[in-house]
Amino acid sequence: MFLFRALFLLTCSCFLSKQILEREFENTGFLCVWWRGGGKEGVCGERKVRESSVNRIFPSFSFRISSPQIVSQCRPTRKSIMGVKFLQWTLLSLSLLSVITMWYLSFSSYSVIKNVNWMYFYEYEPVYRRELVFTFREHLTCSTQNPFLVILVTSRPSEVGARQAVRATWGEKRSWWGHEVLTFFLVGQQAQREDNMLTLSLEDESILYGDIIGQDFVDTYENLTLKTILAFRWVTEFCPNAKYIMKTDSDVFINTGNLVKFLLNTNSSENFFTGYPLINNFSYRGFYQKTYISYEEYPFKVFPPYCSGMGYVLSADLAPRIYEMMGHVKPIKFEDAYVGICLNILRVNIHIPEDTNLFFLYKISFNICKFRHLIAAHDFSANEMMRFWQELQRATTVTCP
Ligand SMILES: *[C@@H]1O[C@H](CO)[C@@H](O)[C@H](O)[C@H]1NC(C)=O
Ligand SMILES: *[C@@H]1O[C@H](CO)[C@@H](O)[C@H](O)[C@H]1NC(C)=O
Ligand SMILES: *[C@@H]1O[C@H](CO)[C@@H](O)[C@H](O)[C@H]1NC(C)=O
Repeated sequence: MFLFRALFLLTCSCFLSKQILEREFENTGFLCVWWRGGGKEGVCGERKVRESSVNRIFPSFSFRISSPQIVSQCRPTRKSIMGVKFLQWTLLSLSLLSVITMWYLSFSSYSVIKNVNWMYFYEYEPVYRRELVFTFREHLTCSTQNPFLVILVTSRPSEVGARQAVRATWGEKRSWWGHEVLTFFLVGQQAQREDNMLTLSLEDESILYGDIIGQDFVDTYENLTLKTILAFRWVTEFCPNAKYIMKTDSDVFINTGNLVKFLLNTNSSENFFTGYPLINNFSYRGFYQKTYISYEEYPFKVFPPYCSGMGYVLSADLAPRIYEMMGHVKPIKFEDAYVGICLNILRVNIHIPEDTNLFFLYKISFNICKFRHLIAAHDFSANEMMRFWQELQRATTVTCP
């Protein structure tokens, strides 16, 4: 595989350099020619080249001008030959460099640890336990209630609109089919501290709705794992009576009623973990920063089976066990894969829903029957969320197969 790629690259670069060299020879071929009356044009045979176009490519070149009469002596000057040699070498070393880079990239991906052993991440002592300070706490005390389902929504402090959309749509109703459902938002600290207006409004929001849970860490994409640890800690310490937990994001559309029905129909109230399954997802080592993970952070080629962080659901008995495990397992950048590692060490298998039309990782277009059937769909703006929710409520006359 690697050999093919290397050969392909080499052929390409050779072809390219040949093309360029030939063109340069043609161009530089004119350099020997005379200048008509100090003008800017040289003529050789039937071809012409503008001085500026040559100078653009070789700005530092000076050219020897031969006698205007002797057109047959039209050859590249020594200087231009040197220039071409220089170019040739540059191209050769460039192509060599790219081959070495590729070799390095493929080589290192082959050198990853093949025998996957999730205990690699496990420390006997809970060295990764970090009890961060709570900055916001919910008002509704979960510990005195027995909610059937608690939905924890990760959200940036600045995403007020998205939170409002959730509060007005799928997070609004507190009871579905006679079962209590509570929705809370998980936030960190706004990255720019000076933004006092914003922190103040988050405080107001917390006073007004009482559904914000916050901790003292910088709210960035890289720190999402800290937020997930917060979710599991909060459930463990402050919401021990819940039956099921869902962790999701504020750009996810959730059909709460369906989710409750789905959980009522699944028999398992223990050891249950489901969502959009990602089995054998590869760790990515390319240049796209958002999905890149370094070898030091994650040396294996594949991730353990896990459920996408856009929305996973678990029976509440798992939450304290996972939280306990998180103290022993080194956090990695991807919170969902991190939870997957913990599950694997705990020997809990994820439940793969037989129905593939329940969880949607990639954006789907609105369709009443589809949305009436699904549990969670990812990647919607606050506006879309409101619109789709309203349409779904209004479309009572539509019948679906
Ligand atoms: C994550 O949060 C910690 C604790 O507040 C902070 O020191 C660190 O800089 C944050 N990481 C990023 C990438 O923001
Ligand atoms: C639910 O559990 C009962 C007993 O544990 C079992 O008999 C039944 O088949 C299960 N139903 C489903 C849908 O799994
Ligand atoms: C696979 O894992 C990467 C993290 O390396 C993640 O960004 C990506 O979304 C995962 N693949 C899918 C299909 O979700």
